[in-house]
Amino acid sequence: MNKTGTNINYAAQCLREGKLVAFPTETVYGLGANALDPIAVAKIFAAKKRPSFDPLIVHIAHLDEIERLLTNPIDERVFQLVKAFWPGPLTIVHKKSDLIPDIVTSGGLTVGIRMPSHPLALELIEATGLPLAAPSANSFGQLSPTTAAHVAKQLKDVDFILDGGATQIGIESTVISLQDGYVEILRPGAITLQQISKIIPDVQMSSEYSNENDLKSPGLLKSHYSPRKPVYLHAVFPESVDDRTAVIASSPFSKIPSCKHIHYLSKDGNLIEVAANLFSAMHQMEENDAVDIMLIESVPEISIGIAIMDRLRKAAFQYLPD
Ligand code: TXA
Ligand code: MG
Repeated sequence: MNKTGTNINYAAQCLREGKLVAFPTETVYGLGANALDPIAVAKIFAAKKRPSFDPLIVHIAHLDEIERLLTNPIDERVFQLVKAFWPGPLTIVHKKSDLIPDIVTSGGLTVGIRMPSHPLALELIEATGLPLAAPSANSFGQLSPTTAAHVAKQLKDVDFILDGGATQIGIESTVISLQDGYVEILRPGAITLQQISKIIPDVQMSSEYSNENDLKSPGLLKSHYSPRKPVYLHAVFPESVDDRTAVIASSPFSKIPSCKHIHYLSKDGNLIEVAANLFSAMHQMEENDAVDIMLIESVPEISIGIAIMDRLRKAAFQYLPD
């Protein structure tokens, strides 16, 4: 049975004992385990029903950990990115050191590391004295959790859920890869391409939307982050919908059909607010027995809108027109 609470020392004790603890970060809740303990990490894959080919992010609270977890020579640009964006929602993928067990990286030679900015996450990592492997605390392929209740809804085999309220950013970190001499964004997130290109001018958005046999980042799977009800993306909503259809609009200024279930993601279309409320809105409609399908309004693909549309296309993938 899951236990939810606010006791950081208890959470840290669980992690030191090789147990699983879900904890808040500024992006979404993570499902954490001691990254240096392969048995503990194996429990993450089991609890999430996550395929073993999908590597985990390692969370740290001290910059010294970079030297321990990555292999030398460490790419100069790691430190440039760290200086600009940590602590914060940027995961850096780089060649790993031998300290990282293979199960964390799905057998790969690289590891994704990030220093979250959420004070509880930092306090927890500090209290354990360990790097924490933590994917988003959802069942594989389902909606990411932005509250402790979202975690409890999906995952049963968690020893403790550290409750820090709703997460602030609401979508997962930007994942950037520094291998092979070039720099690529594998997953868009709150730190945008434009922000990163000010530090590393030749950074590119990955064009890879590859199949499961050849994944640079399994976060690139076409279907992901999906509610258990059909989602349809609309630039313009249809003129009318039935009573069992929910409409999720960017703001009250959107053109909305008359409908029974309406949810606004922001007061005025502010994309940061839309991101913060996105998963939570889909969770609510997923839980609402009076709703069969959801129609979600697309947003402009600028700044964090790129990450929002990435998540929405994945949520709606099986229902997108060919
Ligand atoms: O905001 C976040 O990143 C959250 C919080 C908890 O930190 N974590 C998260 O983890 O979203 P997860 O596992 O749900 O997504 C991590 C993504 C996956 O798509 C994974 O394939 C990719 O990062 N990834 C992790 N390590 C990688 C590596 N070594 N090479 C390529 N992709 C990697
Ligand atoms: Mg995830």
